Amino acid sequence: MTAFSDEFYRDILEGLAVYADSSFHRDILMTLTRHQEPGIAVALNKNQMASKRWLADSLHASVGSSPGRVLILGGWVGALSAVLFHDRRFDLQRVVSVDIDPRCAPVAESLNATNARSGRFAARTADMLSLDYTGEDAADLIINTSCEHLRDFERWYARVPADQLVVLQSNDYFACAEHVNSVADLATFQAQAPLRHVLFAGARKMRRYTRFMLIGRK
Ligand SMILES: C[S@@+](CC[C@H](N)C(=O)[O-])C[C@H]1O[C@@H](n2cnc3c(N)ncnc32)[C@H](O)[C@@H]1O
Repeated sequence: MTAFSDEFYRDILEGLAVYADSSFHRDILMTLTRHQEPGIAVALNKNQMASKRWLADSLHASVGSSPGRVLILGGWVGALSAVLFHDRRFDLQRVVSVDIDPRCAPVAESLNATNARSGRFAARTADMLSLDYTGEDAADLIINTSCEHLRDFERWYARVPADQLVVLQSNDYFACAEHVNSVADLATFQAQAPLRHVLFAGARKMRRYTRFMLIGRK
């Protein structure tokens, strides 16, 4: 079998960016050119993108087009921010993507370059357990799709203010060593993250695991 060079794939991506006239594709291409970060391939793989798409569809159906100021926690390389920004159904005021890993912010800024330039996107390096959700880090919507990665989930959730609108995702993928807080099923996730007003609660079967999502007010 022929091994194709990076240039081979880059040419195709560039062609698709021109064809689709898409700043999303152009930002992805620029990110791949500037950052040799293997996590990008995982963050943009079909399971991850399907989960982000599921989130966008469910968020739109339950909250509408204007979620206001959005804070994404455990935002990794910023794929979810990019998906939401390039989804024409949404009119996003501002998105801040926070991750504890300092390697994430430069990649996230690049993957969201179009919106970073206009001042609507920023990436930060911080521990979500140390943010001030009622003060300087307050947001209309808090999204945490990394609940399975949070050993101290209970302590984090206790810091989220009452009545806060949240979107939470977790999974039952216990086989992954980094998943220190996976849950067996949707009921367990709901018990871990109780909501006063549930707008959406669902499970989605992927090939190797099931992903769970909750949307509502704490
Ligand atoms: C592998 S990624 C995201 C997986 C997830 N299913 C998704 O796509 O949203 C998990 C991220 O959570 C971040 N993370 C873990 N603990 C954190 C914390 N206390 N504060 C901020 N980020 C955290 C990790 O650095 C990592 O980038």
